[in-house]
Amino acid sequence: ANIPVIAIDGPTASGKGTVAQKVARQLGFHYLDSGALYRLTALSAIRRGIAMNDEHGLAKSAEHLNCHFDGGHIFLANEDVSQAIRAEEVGNTASKIAVLATVRHALYGLQLSFRKAPGLVADGRDMGTVIFPHAPLKVFLTASVEARAQRRYKQLIDKGFPANMEDLSKDLRERDARDMNRASAPLKPAEGAYLLDTSEMTADEAVRQVLSWYAAL
Ligand code: C5P
Repeated sequence: ANIPVIAIDGPTASGKGTVAQKVARQLGFHYLDSGALYRLTALSAIRRGIAMNDEHGLAKSAEHLNCHFDGGHIFLANEDVSQAIRAEEVGNTASKIAVLATVRHALYGLQLSFRKAPGLVADGRDMGTVIFPHAPLKVFLTASVEARAQRRYKQLIDKGFPANMEDLSKDLRERDARDMNRASAPLKPAEGAYLLDTSEMTADEAVRQVLSWYAAL
Protein backbone atom coordinates (compact mmCIF):
# COMPACT_ATOMS: atom_id res chain seq x y z
CA ALA A 1 0.00 0.00 0.00
CA ASN A 2 3.06 2.21 -0.22
CA ILE A 3 2.71 2.62 -3.94
CA PRO A 4 3.18 6.34 -4.66
CA VAL A 5 0.43 8.39 -6.26
CA ILE A 6 0.74 11.80 -7.86
CA ALA A 7 -2.70 13.40 -7.89
CA ILE A 8 -3.20 16.12 -10.49
CA ASP A 9 -6.51 17.97 -10.36
CA GLY A 10 -7.83 21.03 -12.08
CA PRO A 11 -10.55 22.47 -14.28
CA THR A 12 -11.47 21.42 -17.80
CA ALA A 13 -8.73 21.94 -20.39
CA SER A 14 -6.16 23.12 -17.85
CA GLY A 15 -3.62 20.79 -19.43
CA LYS A 16 -3.80 18.17 -16.68
CA GLY A 17 -4.10 15.27 -19.07
CA THR A 18 -1.03 16.17 -21.11
CA VAL A 19 1.05 16.99 -18.04
CA ALA A 20 -0.06 13.88 -16.13
CA GLN A 21 0.71 11.56 -19.04
CA LYS A 22 4.15 13.05 -19.55
CA VAL A 23 4.97 12.82 -15.85
CA ALA A 24 3.81 9.19 -15.84
CA ARG A 25 5.97 8.39 -18.85
CA GLN A 26 9.04 10.06 -17.29
CA LEU A 27 8.67 8.12 -14.05
CA GLY A 28 7.52 4.85 -15.66
CA PHE A 29 4.29 5.07 -13.65
CA HIS A 30 0.78 3.98 -14.57
CA TYR A 31 -1.69 6.66 -15.60
CA LEU A 32 -5.34 7.15 -14.66
CA ASP A 33 -7.47 9.49 -16.77
CA SER A 34 -10.43 9.61 -14.38
CA GLY A 35 -12.33 12.01 -16.64
CA ALA A 36 -12.36 9.27 -19.27
CA LEU A 37 -14.37 7.09 -16.89
CA TYR A 38 -17.05 9.78 -16.60
CA ARG A 39 -16.94 10.24 -20.36
CA LEU A 40 -17.27 6.48 -20.93
CA THR A 41 -20.22 6.36 -18.56
CA ALA A 42 -21.80 9.26 -20.46
CA LEU A 43 -21.21 7.66 -23.85
CA SER A 44 -22.55 4.33 -22.68
CA ALA A 45 -25.68 6.01 -21.26
CA ILE A 46 -26.23 8.10 -24.42
CA ARG A 47 -25.99 5.01 -26.59
CA ARG A 48 -28.33 2.98 -24.42
CA GLY A 49 -30.85 5.81 -24.41
CA ILE A 50 -30.75 6.31 -20.66
CA ALA A 51 -32.47 9.53 -19.65
CA MET A 52 -30.39 12.15 -17.85
CA ASN A 53 -32.86 12.13 -14.96
CA ASP A 54 -32.70 8.34 -14.55
CA GLU A 55 -30.17 8.35 -11.72
CA HIS A 56 -30.49 4.63 -11.13
CA GLY A 57 -29.88 3.81 -14.81
CA LEU A 58 -26.87 6.16 -14.91
CA ALA A 59 -25.37 4.61 -11.78
CA LYS A 60 -25.86 1.15 -13.33
CA SER A 61 -24.04 2.31 -16.47
CA ALA A 62 -21.13 3.41 -14.30
CA GLU A 63 -21.14 0.25 -12.22
CA HIS A 64 -21.16 -2.07 -15.23
CA LEU A 65 -18.79 -0.02 -17.33
CA ASN A 66 -17.20 -2.56 -19.65
CA CYS A 67 -14.06 -0.63 -20.53
CA HIS A 68 -10.37 -1.18 -20.87
CA PHE A 69 -7.30 0.92 -21.56
CA ASP A 70 -4.65 -0.35 -23.90
CA GLY A 71 -1.65 1.39 -25.42
CA GLY A 72 -3.15 4.85 -25.00
CA HIS A 73 -6.45 3.74 -26.53
CA ILE A 74 -9.75 3.51 -24.67
CA PHE A 75 -12.26 0.75 -25.34
CA LEU A 76 -15.95 0.42 -24.48
CA ALA A 77 -16.88 -3.23 -24.81
CA ASN A 78 -14.49 -3.97 -27.67
CA GLU A 79 -14.91 -0.75 -29.59
CA ASP A 80 -12.13 1.85 -29.69
CA VAL A 81 -13.90 5.00 -28.45
CA SER A 82 -10.75 7.08 -27.82
CA GLN A 83 -12.04 9.72 -30.28
CA ALA A 84 -15.76 9.45 -29.59
CA ILE A 85 -15.44 10.23 -25.86
CA ARG A 86 -13.64 13.53 -26.66
CA ALA A 87 -16.65 15.06 -28.40
CA GLU A 88 -18.00 18.14 -26.60
CA GLU A 89 -21.45 16.57 -26.24
CA VAL A 90 -19.96 13.62 -24.38
CA GLY A 91 -17.89 15.95 -22.15
CA ASN A 92 -20.94 18.01 -21.30
CA THR A 93 -22.99 14.93 -20.51
CA ALA A 94 -20.10 13.59 -18.41
CA SER A 95 -20.04 16.78 -16.38
CA LYS A 96 -23.80 16.53 -15.78
CA ILE A 97 -23.76 12.95 -14.59
CA ALA A 98 -20.60 13.61 -12.51
CA VAL A 99 -22.75 15.59 -10.06
CA LEU A 100 -24.49 12.35 -9.03
CA ALA A 101 -23.03 10.80 -5.87
CA THR A 102 -24.30 7.38 -6.96
CA VAL A 103 -22.33 7.60 -10.22
CA ARG A 104 -19.20 8.80 -8.40
CA HIS A 105 -19.55 6.00 -5.89
CA ALA A 106 -19.92 3.40 -8.66
CA LEU A 107 -16.60 4.54 -10.20
CA TYR A 108 -14.67 4.63 -6.93
CA GLY A 109 -13.30 1.06 -6.83
CA LEU A 110 -12.35 1.10 -10.50
CA GLN A 111 -10.24 4.23 -9.91
CA LEU A 112 -8.45 2.69 -6.91
CA SER A 113 -7.57 -0.37 -9.01
CA PHE A 114 -5.24 1.77 -11.16
CA ARG A 115 -2.84 2.11 -8.24
CA LYS A 116 -0.21 -0.46 -9.13
CA ALA A 117 3.56 -0.66 -8.71
CA PRO A 118 5.76 1.19 -9.36
CA GLY A 119 3.37 4.15 -9.04
CA LEU A 120 0.42 6.06 -10.43
CA VAL A 121 -0.21 9.50 -11.85
CA ALA A 122 -3.94 10.22 -11.61
CA ASP A 123 -5.67 13.20 -13.17
CA GLY A 124 -9.16 14.52 -12.59
CA ARG A 125 -11.15 16.77 -10.26
CA ASP A 126 -11.07 14.87 -6.98
CA MET A 127 -7.94 12.73 -7.13
CA GLY A 128 -6.30 14.56 -4.21
CA THR A 129 -9.47 15.36 -2.27
CA VAL A 130 -11.46 12.11 -2.42
CA ILE A 131 -9.94 9.20 -4.35
CA PHE A 132 -6.28 9.37 -3.21
CA PRO A 133 -6.36 11.73 -0.21
CA HIS A 134 -3.05 10.29 1.06
CA ALA A 135 -1.17 10.85 -2.19
CA PRO A 136 2.34 12.06 -1.32
CA LEU A 137 2.18 14.70 -4.08
CA LYS A 138 -0.93 16.66 -4.99
CA VAL A 139 -1.00 19.32 -7.68
CA PHE A 140 -3.80 21.70 -8.57
CA LEU A 141 -3.32 22.85 -12.14
CA THR A 142 -5.12 25.94 -13.35
CA ALA A 143 -5.06 28.28 -16.33
CA SER A 144 -7.15 31.25 -17.41
CA VAL A 145 -10.42 30.58 -19.25
CA GLU A 146 -8.86 32.20 -22.35
CA ALA A 147 -5.80 29.94 -22.29
CA ARG A 148 -7.98 26.88 -21.74
CA ALA A 149 -10.44 27.77 -24.51
CA GLN A 150 -7.48 28.22 -26.88
CA ARG A 151 -6.09 24.81 -26.00
CA ARG A 152 -9.45 23.06 -26.25
CA TYR A 153 -10.06 24.76 -29.61
CA LYS A 154 -6.75 23.48 -30.96
CA GLN A 155 -7.36 19.98 -29.59
CA LEU A 156 -10.77 19.74 -31.20
CA ILE A 157 -9.67 21.11 -34.56
CA ASP A 158 -6.65 18.77 -34.57
CA LYS A 159 -9.00 15.85 -33.96
CA GLY A 160 -11.28 16.93 -36.77
CA PHE A 161 -14.17 18.12 -34.59
CA PRO A 162 -15.87 21.45 -35.31
CA ALA A 163 -15.12 24.17 -32.74
CA ASN A 164 -15.90 27.80 -32.01
CA MET A 165 -14.05 29.90 -29.42
CA GLU A 166 -17.10 31.69 -28.07
CA ASP A 167 -19.07 28.49 -27.51
CA LEU A 168 -16.02 26.83 -25.97
CA SER A 169 -15.47 29.65 -23.44
CA LYS A 170 -19.14 29.54 -22.48
CA ASP A 171 -19.02 25.74 -22.11
CA LEU A 172 -15.85 25.96 -20.00
CA ARG A 173 -17.43 28.48 -17.63
CA GLU A 174 -20.54 26.36 -17.29
CA ARG A 175 -18.53 23.24 -16.68
CA ASP A 176 -16.29 24.98 -14.13
CA ALA A 177 -19.37 26.20 -12.27
CA ARG A 178 -20.90 22.73 -12.27
CA ASP A 179 -17.67 21.07 -11.12
CA MET A 180 -16.98 23.61 -8.36
CA ASN A 181 -20.49 24.00 -7.02
CA ARG A 182 -21.65 20.41 -6.82
CA ALA A 183 -22.22 18.90 -3.39
CA SER A 184 -20.39 15.65 -4.13
CA ALA A 185 -16.59 15.93 -4.53
CA PRO A 186 -16.54 19.54 -5.79
CA LEU A 187 -13.47 20.73 -7.67
CA LYS A 188 -11.12 22.47 -5.24
CA PRO A 189 -7.44 22.23 -4.32
CA ALA A 190 -6.75 19.35 -1.92
CA GLU A 191 -5.16 20.09 1.42
CA GLY A 192 -1.43 20.35 0.87
CA ALA A 193 -1.74 20.67 -2.91
CA TYR A 194 0.79 22.71 -4.87
CA LEU A 195 -0.89 25.27 -7.12
CA LEU A 196 0.40 25.55 -10.66
CA ASP A 197 -0.96 28.18 -13.08
CA THR A 198 -0.04 27.06 -16.59
CA SER A 199 -1.58 29.98 -18.54
CA GLU A 200 1.87 31.15 -19.60
CA MET A 201 3.64 27.80 -19.46
CA THR A 202 4.32 25.06 -21.94
CA ALA A 203 3.36 21.52 -21.03
CA ASP A 204 7.04 20.60 -20.67
CA GLU A 205 7.66 23.44 -18.22
CA ALA A 206 4.72 22.24 -16.13
CA VAL A 207 6.05 18.67 -16.30
CA ARG A 208 9.47 19.81 -15.06
CA GLN A 209 7.85 21.62 -12.14
CA VAL A 210 5.83 18.56 -11.11
CA LEU A 211 8.88 16.29 -11.41
CA SER A 212 10.96 18.64 -9.28
CA TRP A 213 8.27 18.67 -6.57
CA TYR A 214 8.22 14.89 -6.70
CA ALA A 215 12.01 14.63 -6.50
CA ALA A 216 11.98 16.90 -3.44
CA LEU A 217 9.56 14.69 -1.45
O1 C5P B 1 -11.38 15.80 -17.47
P1 C5P B 1 -12.51 15.61 -18.42
O2 C5P B 1 -12.95 16.87 -19.11
O3 C5P B 1 -12.26 14.50 -19.39
O4 C5P B 1 -13.74 15.11 -17.53
C1 C5P B 1 -15.06 15.06 -18.02
C2 C5P B 1 -16.02 15.46 -16.90
O5 C5P B 1 -16.01 14.46 -15.88
C3 C5P B 1 -15.61 16.75 -16.17
O6 C5P B 1 -16.26 17.88 -16.75
C4 C5P B 1 -16.05 16.55 -14.74
O7 C5P B 1 -17.35 17.05 -14.54
C5 C5P B 1 -16.10 15.04 -14.59
N1 C5P B 1 -15.02 14.54 -13.74
C6 C5P B 1 -15.22 14.47 -12.39
N2 C5P B 1 -14.28 13.93 -11.58
C7 C5P B 1 -13.12 13.49 -12.08
C8 C5P B 1 -12.85 13.59 -13.46
C9 C5P B 1 -13.83 14.13 -14.28
O8 C5P B 1 -16.27 14.88 -11.91
N3 C5P B 1 -12.22 12.95 -11.25
